[in-house]
Amino acid sequence: MSQVNVGLCGLGTVGTGVVKLLTGHADEIKYKVGSEIQIKKILVNDLDKKRDVAINRDWLTTDPEELVSNPEIDVIIEVMGGIDDTNILLEKAIRNKKHVVTANKDLMAIHGPKLLKLAKDNKCDVFYDASVAGGIPIIRPLTEGLASDKIQKIMGIVNGTTNYILTKMSDEGLDFDTVLQEAQELGFAEADPTADVDGLDAARKMTLLANLAFKMEIDLDDVEVTGIRSITQEDIAFATSLGYTIKLIGNASIYDGKAEVTVEPTLLPKDHPLALVKNEFNAVYVYGKAVGETMFYGPGAGSLPTATAVVSDLMAVVKNIRLETTGTEYITPQYEKQLKQDDE
Ligand code: NAP
Ligand code: HSE
Repeated sequence: MSQVNVGLCGLGTVGTGVVKLLTGHADEIKYKVGSEIQIKKILVNDLDKKRDVAINRDWLTTDPEELVSNPEIDVIIEVMGGIDDTNILLEKAIRNKKHVVTANKDLMAIHGPKLLKLAKDNKCDVFYDASVAGGIPIIRPLTEGLASDKIQKIMGIVNGTTNYILTKMSDEGLDFDTVLQEAQELGFAEADPTADVDGLDAARKMTLLANLAFKMEIDLDDVEVTGIRSITQEDIAFATSLGYTIKLIGNASIYDGKAEVTVEPTLLPKDHPLALVKNEFNAVYVYGKAVGETMFYGPGAGSLPTATAVVSDLMAVVKNIRLETTGTEYITPQYEKQLKQDDE
């Protein structure tokens, strides 16, 4: 296929980055995948909003049908957020044989297995590497590069907003509300930052990672979650006086054949590798029985870093279209269960 057409759902922080990458790196991308990638439509809420990127205004629409039922469109990139309505939209797109790339961990943590099953039935791809740790490629390394290993532990900072808040409170003495507002202005926080601050965003990401890495059925409801809302300047000063830093740490481990996943503010010695991860940066430590210790580090939120992961997933889809294949499927136990249930 010489040209692959994209319908982009969302033109906010991530969507803007996607457009910038697809235009700014167009030659590089075309050279690598062997096809031209063309945006055909962009779904937004507000047609009149000023945009931070040059676009053809004719691309903009508020009608999802112009994307999901558009015979010209091959791939839907979903970077608008939302759970149930977005799921309905993507289900329709897949039934209409559109491949999907999404950065939406809220959606994937809840509807992921069914969407992947539907995609399999319709010979479509659903890729979601941008949904965990923004610009750090972590899903593909866990499911491909480390596939031969037995992963025992994943530990890390997987929410950029809370790491930004804790860094600024600690290093610059700023108060929680001021820094949260900064994180929102910089585009790191979710539209409703409650999920960031209360640890749910990190819990969703850790659930996705743990399911993929351990191949055990781990439910979001089983994750013990504590956010950072109650952390005060006094707590930070006290930790600092003892030589510690407070970080929101996600932990997923296997003990006696059972998986345990937690997200909680944690005291780390100041020279601990995770204590040195600042601002919106994320880091994920992965321990595998054979490989030993590995660490993935980089920007965990933000426009261009997240767009890099989205567009790289898009390129994987385009390569598959050229090869007339689909996959790699990111197989979780829930997905396997879904396959069995639907086959019975
Ligand atoms: P955002 O800045 O709030 O942008 C959302 C975009 O989607 C806006 O363009 C908005 O339209 C559009 N939109 C939202 N709901 C819509 C609806 N019902 N119908 C039509 N258009 C709708 O969000 P974001 O920060 O880019 O995040 C997007 C997704 O990526 C989320 O799932 C988020 O969790 C995920 N993500 C974000 C980051 C990050 O650093 N921000 C990193 C990784 C993953 P208008 O512009 O007209 O308002
Ligand atoms: N709100 C999320 C964060 C965006 O702060 O990490 C990236 O998933």
